Amino acid sequence: MTLWQIRTVVDDEPGRLAALASSLADLSVNILSVQVHPVVAGAVDDFVADAPASLTAEELVAAVGAGGGRRAVVRPADVHGLADPPTRALQLAARLVRDPECLPLALSDLLDGSAVQWTPAADPSDELRLRDPRGGSLRIVRMDARLTPSETARAHALADLAALLVAAGDGGDARRSAPEAAEGSAAAVHWRRPTVADLGAIAEMHDRCSDSSRYRRYNSGMARPSGRQLARLINPRLGVALVGVAPDGKVVVLGNLMWCAATEPTPAELGLLVEDAWQARGLGSALARRLLAAAADAECAQVHAVVRPDNLPMLRLLAGLGLPTHRAWDEGMLTVTVAVMEKSAAEGRL
Ligand SMILES: CC(C)(COP(=O)(O)OP(=O)(O)OC[C@H]1O[C@@H](n2cnc3c(N)ncnc32)[C@H](O)[C@@H]1OP(=O)(O)O)[C@@H](O)C(=O)NCCC(=O)NCCS
Repeated sequence: MTLWQIRTVVDDEPGRLAALASSLADLSVNILSVQVHPVVAGAVDDFVADAPASLTAEELVAAVGAGGGRRAVVRPADVHGLADPPTRALQLAARLVRDPECLPLALSDLLDGSAVQWTPAADPSDELRLRDPRGGSLRIVRMDARLTPSETARAHALADLAALLVAAGDGGDARRSAPEAAEGSAAAVHWRRPTVADLGAIAEMHDRCSDSSRYRRYNSGMARPSGRQLARLINPRLGVALVGVAPDGKVVVLGNLMWCAATEPTPAELGLLVEDAWQARGLGSALARRLLAAAADAECAQVHAVVRPDNLPMLRLLAGLGLPTHRAWDEGMLTVTVAVMEKSAAEGRL
């Protein structure tokens, strides 16, 4: 079975949801969670559903249409889509308290992976503009569907919390890492989850990287990974991916937390790549902290990274996280295990 997120507009009248569920049930699709957002045109129904692996997105769209749904958007979901909205909102609030810099990322997660762009000044034509407590404005860009009023209200609530945290001096500059505070580069890029539309820009970033950086990241030759391998890296079913986008729109950072089989040392492997021209400005550390927050949300007690022993920047980065680590040496490579939950607990006590 495969998890899908299905979003569709339906008429707001009795029996519509049942007709939709029945049309999906005809294809053995099991609805696991439903959210209903009232909108002027009726209601937007948001489902997470479990479907037989053989079903395609097109077949699901057709079934939704047959059940009375309009403008259906179907996309792969991961298990985190199953968290009920209050739980998810509280997890995101906790993440903001741990790291107030992660507002754009938390907003993106709250709004199902929408792109969140930072701009110095608000553009009045934007559908939803939120004030970034550190200055400027955050713009939400959703490619496949408009935000519903409930989602807009949720986004405002999260941005209000970030503003309160910053105003209270709770976690602002004091918790920023030295490299980040010193360079401010982490603020110069904006962080978001990549989509397949980013694959070209991610490939170009790999092309701009040196052979040595690619080799250190993938430990397997110096060529750029194939398009198929890059697509795998950003598949939300297989892990959490993050990109850092420079003000000129180029992707300059790619980070991955890939879920691992039980035979691996920990439930998730960390992989980081910062384009050479952007290295040593604190971006790698900022990226690692964001991925570790995602690991904590997914209740991973530990993650690991496979590092060449001569990779001083990565070893210093891992050591600089201030987390308990363990190094194991095997066949010329170091596997560095990082304890995630201890850090979260420690931050919770601050
Ligand atoms: C490893 C990598 C992600 C680090 O990212 P970064 O943005 O350069 O790192 P940061 O600026 O956050 O710095 C992290 C630490 O590395 C140190 N560092 C950065 N570049 C360095 C360099 N060229 N030489 C020595 N130390 C360096 C920093 O001083 C810092 O250590 P400190 O806190 O003790 O001062 C980046 O160098 C990279 O993409 N390398 C190629 C791919 C790779 O090796 N990935 C890791 C394996 S998955």
